[in-house]
Amino acid sequence: MQKILVVDDEAGIRNSLRAILEDEGYEVETVASGEECLKIAEKSNFACILLDVWLPGIDGLETLKLLRDQGSDAVVIMISGHGTIETAVMATKLGAFDFIEKPLSIEKTVLTVRNAIRTRELELRNAELAEALNQEYVMIGNSVAMRALRKQIAIVAPTDGRVLIQGESGTGKELVARAIHNQSRRKEKAFIEVNSAAIPEELVESELFGYVKGAFSGATQTKKGKFELADGGTLFLDEIGDMSPRVQAKVLRVLEESRFEPLGSNTLVKVDVRIISATNKNLDELMESGSFRHDLFYRLNVIPFQIPPLRERIEDIPLLVDHFNRKFSLAYGKKPKEFTESAIQAMQEYSWPGNVRELKNTVERIVIMKTKQKITADDLPEFESDGFLSSSSRFPSFKEAMDAFQRRFIEQKIAEADGNISKAAELMGIDRSHLYRRIKALGINLDKIKF
Ligand SMILES: Nc1ncnc2c1ncn2[C@@H]1O[C@H](COP(=O)(O)OP(=O)(O)OP(=O)(O)O)[C@@H](O)[C@H]1O
Ligand SMILES: [Mg+2]
Repeated sequence: MQKILVVDDEAGIRNSLRAILEDEGYEVETVASGEECLKIAEKSNFACILLDVWLPGIDGLETLKLLRDQGSDAVVIMISGHGTIETAVMATKLGAFDFIEKPLSIEKTVLTVRNAIRTRELELRNAELAEALNQEYVMIGNSVAMRALRKQIAIVAPTDGRVLIQGESGTGKELVARAIHNQSRRKEKAFIEVNSAAIPEELVESELFGYVKGAFSGATQTKKGKFELADGGTLFLDEIGDMSPRVQAKVLRVLEESRFEPLGSNTLVKVDVRIISATNKNLDELMESGSFRHDLFYRLNVIPFQIPPLRERIEDIPLLVDHFNRKFSLAYGKKPKEFTESAIQAMQEYSWPGNVRELKNTVERIVIMKTKQKITADDLPEFESDGFLSSSSRFPSFKEAMDAFQRRFIEQKIAEADGNISKAAELMGIDRSHLYRRIKALGINLDKIKF
């Protein structure tokens, strides 16, 4: 049952409001002063507070402010007597939902209270949804690289500095861009995404800068471009490596001048936009070959972010598997799977060309498709590690194949040596300090080796 608090120094008003609201099915408490209101609101969780403007001690307006200061999220309706309407109106500007006037009309009172409570419920629900949405953007990982990334985000987010995020496909570039936005002073404003690779060349300009009615045949009304939609917020330019030279020139101009003209308009629009850009292409190569402008690169790349591929931070794999396992089990109403050491190890030996996205899809598929609870390496033939040389396509480069081989070789020898590093080094015919360096460089976790 929703709880309502009535605050009025007149006993008659308290009693009649109690009667009216109890009839409507609310649970009602009453007090006679602002001081008492603050005390009881601190202890009890009211959905709605009806607050008299004129009160003997601290008045209604002051009580409202103090209520907010002490963190009450009750919706407040002011009760205004003769001569206090102006104050009641002012109170609505300070966050009161509405006001009702004395003498009280039963109908108006009931209606206002119902509206207020419904609005509060919607607001709480929205806050929940926003929270869930933020959950969608949590960044999992405790590797040195991820910890450094989080630190870098925390430092850069509050500034307006332009950020260029580079990393292979699926490493989490968009996630990082959203994290920067969500930790910035622009977080209440829009986060607008432009995927330069997905928009046909001839539409990029109208997408970015908008157009006015009549700018071209088919422009039946004025449309705002992404730069304008992002005003006050963040514009995420994704896949900038795919921008055509023409668009690069246009974007460069906006970055230099913070202004642009929508198509068909000769009025400059000024915007306050923070730019975060991203690409999985190698911009150095693109600049070398002349398909990406140096001057644009320097404009965008004020603060560089480099997200390492997943195979270079394999200690994040167990955490990510656990995260996606829970997430998808919950989403599909299933019990979370149990990934055994062998399964995790097989996944750590795999090279993940599609990075976190590929791992996320893999775990989702397992949660949906596998009927058994326990997942072992045998359930993951695609990551079967023994035959890894026969599936060399798994390793995009010589170095990665070598690393994977060395990791496995070293782990086996350490296991054979019962965990004795000196002995393992001897077995391998290398010296102990060399072995230690390799263990460190390859991120081998000695605690995980079974012997
Ligand atoms: N550290 C992480 N923790 C949790 N989820 C992650 C992490 N990194 C990436 N993801 C998830 O993996 C998926 C791919 O991430 P994202 O879209 O940010 O990658 P991207 O680098 O922008 O990829 P692309 O280059 O293909 O655009 C998303 O669903 C994202 O939520
Ligand atoms: Mg992306």
